[in-house]
Amino acid sequence: MNPETENQQLPFPRVAHAAPPRVYLSDDTVRFGVIGYGYWGPNVVRNLHGLEGACLSAVCDQSAQALKRAKQLYPGVTMTKDSADILTSPDIDAVAIVTPVWTHYELAKKALENGKHVFLEKPLTSNARQAEELIELAERKNLSLMVDHTFLFTGAVRKIRQLIDDGTLGDLYYYDSTRVNLGLFQHDINVVWDLAPHDLSIMDHVIREKPEALVATGECHLNGHVDVAFITVYFPRNIIAHINVNWLSPVKVRTTLIGGEKKMLVWNDLEADEKIKVYDKGVQITSQQGVYDLLVSYRTGDMWSPKVEQSEALKVELSHFRDCILNGHCPSNDGVAGLRVVRMLEAADQSIREKGKAILL
Ligand SMILES: NC(=O)c1ccc[n+]([C@@H]2O[C@H](COP(=O)([O-])OP(=O)(O)OC[C@H]3O[C@@H](n4cnc5c(N)ncnc54)[C@H](O)[C@@H]3O)[C@@H](O)[C@H]2O)c1
Repeated sequence: MNPETENQQLPFPRVAHAAPPRVYLSDDTVRFGVIGYGYWGPNVVRNLHGLEGACLSAVCDQSAQALKRAKQLYPGVTMTKDSADILTSPDIDAVAIVTPVWTHYELAKKALENGKHVFLEKPLTSNARQAEELIELAERKNLSLMVDHTFLFTGAVRKIRQLIDDGTLGDLYYYDSTRVNLGLFQHDINVVWDLAPHDLSIMDHVIREKPEALVATGECHLNGHVDVAFITVYFPRNIIAHINVNWLSPVKVRTTLIGGEKKMLVWNDLEADEKIKVYDKGVQITSQQGVYDLLVSYRTGDMWSPKVEQSEALKVELSHFRDCILNGHCPSNDGVAGLRVVRMLEAADQSIREKGKAILL
């Protein structure tokens, strides 16, 4: 993947904002402030710091220790404990919010109200109503609202989308992903809200059908939050998706199987090379006259591993955000994409509470 992302090189649909692009006084450079320098924030800050066409103006964190760490690495950047310094600064065009989920809505709302474009961590908000409000506010103010669905910008997911789009896999049958490890236990959210946004956003991006219903089961074992969960999503044309997320697994697994009528693929994200393997395997039923006449043949052809670009996904994603701001384009992973994921997370919580009841989407 080319880190110097040009809009036309990205394989995502683009919709221009209704209003004309804003004019940036600072020489076509977007000035960023980042709120949150905990676990993920340093990655966002590092990528913004070196990004062409972007200027990292300020970093905010409530924790003095976090700010001390940031200051050591970026001595020229303003550090503050007060998010209002960033949210109201006339010298900042865009804000990246990398704080816990329950803070996203308030911070993003203030940023948009103050005329800032917003890059908001996954999951977009704690509920669909908040997401809808932010989307409406961003539209009204002609500002970009983008959710950090980082995986969509990895070489692996871009390759998978390409293999589906160009018909290599044929009609899809299923999507089956496992994202399990030991911890990291979160205090404010369950394993579904922590890990499943990755799988749900990837699934949404590659299947590109509106899901019809969702069924989820899960249990809490340690701190009152669901720590093991199994989510099933039903799509039109018999496409079915299954997502297994677990904080209590002795081993880390990041594997997704995608089955199609023509080919099947396995994506193992923990593999350094050959992350994706495409199998020319399948099943053909040549007669359906009656159960006694059923002729089932199995195809077991070659396996190949397509080349996957290695660029850092977050850098590509932030380049895309910068380009959208400068050109007045709507990000591929905009607020609406974030809302689709939040709706599925809410449905998963409800289904788990009701012991696996099917929730219509
Ligand atoms: N895209 C990804 O792959 C990815 C990976 C990990 C986490 N995340 C997301 O990033 C977000 C943050 O997660 P984390 O693991 O870094 O959390 P964290 O708890 O490690 O860090 C959050 C930081 O935000 C600071 N903070 C909280 N409220 C603040 C406020 N109002 N003003 C200033 N600072 C504030 C805290 O002091 C803390 O340092 C979450 O939404 C999470 O889902 C995304």
